[in-house]
Amino acid sequence: MTKTIELSGVQQRFHARGAVGGYLTAVQDATFTLAPEPPQVVSLVGQSGSGKSTIARNVLGLQKPTSGTVRYGGKDIFKLTRAEYDDYRRNVQPVFQDPYAIFNPFYRVDRVLWKAVKKFGLASSRSEGLALIERSLEAVKLEPERVLGRYPHQLSGGQRQRVMLARIHMLRPAFVIADEPVSMLDAQVRRLFLDILLDFQREYGMTTLFITHDLSTVYYLGGSVMVINRGVIVERGPVDTVMHEPSHPYTRLLLDSIPQPDPDLRWTGRIEVDELSGTAEAGTPKATAPETPII
Ligand SMILES: Nc1ncnc2c1ncn2[C@@H]1O[C@H](COP(=O)(O)OP(=O)(O)OP(=O)(O)O)[C@@H](O)[C@H]1O
Ligand SMILES: [Mg+2]
Repeated sequence: MTKTIELSGVQQRFHARGAVGGYLTAVQDATFTLAPEPPQVVSLVGQSGSGKSTIARNVLGLQKPTSGTVRYGGKDIFKLTRAEYDDYRRNVQPVFQDPYAIFNPFYRVDRVLWKAVKKFGLASSRSEGLALIERSLEAVKLEPERVLGRYPHQLSGGQRQRVMLARIHMLRPAFVIADEPVSMLDAQVRRLFLDILLDFQREYGMTTLFITHDLSTVYYLGGSVMVINRGVIVERGPVDTVMHEPSHPYTRLLLDSIPQPDPDLRWTGRIEVDELSGTAEAGTPKATAPETPII
């Protein structure tokens, strides 16, 4: 049976010169569960610097929390045996914002996929490995002959990101930890990426922790959401409830800051350009909660 990931009272401090006490608290008392059943999307949304990536790194075992625990199947992931940790790393896979950083510019992109085949023993021969790689590329709507043999810089950002999804397709982890995977993609490619992720959830039962600063992406994905502000999870619940009946002032602030793509919506205030600072001050449109996703 697939195991559950549980964060309990996770606190992460970093040394910071000039901060009170000489440290800053990036994450404060983060407590939540990622369950494999039913497969679900749990979004973590918050502004830049709110502690989202730190939580991702805690969950992935890349950063040991100052206090509190991350458990997998009831066991502290920082105290796993080698075999248990390998099982964890197989079942909990990351997707990061900039896949370019994952690829070595001197090697063809194939290498990232072949490494997964070899490391996790996914095929018993070269032809079986190649067939698996081709199937996975097709599953993420990439044509193998257009991708294989290329260097990272010869692919678009969206293609590189989908190669990472192909890797996930090959591994079929129970959990995907996605840290701002679409923030560098344009709207159309972004939607394609999110649809593939939702497909994986339905087809292969993957649960995703989806990190973003963009509420319209959260709205598109559905499932549940946690809102983080300055390291503290201030609100959580089903996306519909949190979006339509936000209970925390910070969530309301985030919702109010979403631009409305409605062409019938008129600006109610005058736009005044401050000539000295060069900044524009604008009246705000009347609508608040997003009725339709922007992407
Ligand atoms: N290794 C580190 N050493 C010191 N401070 C750190 C370290 N990692 C993160 N921080 C600080 O912790 C806070 C939270 O950072 P984090 O990267 O988790 O935010 P974030 O929500 O992912 O932001 P963004 O949306 O910009 O990616 C920030 O103030 C950051 O400067
Ligand atoms: Mg981040």
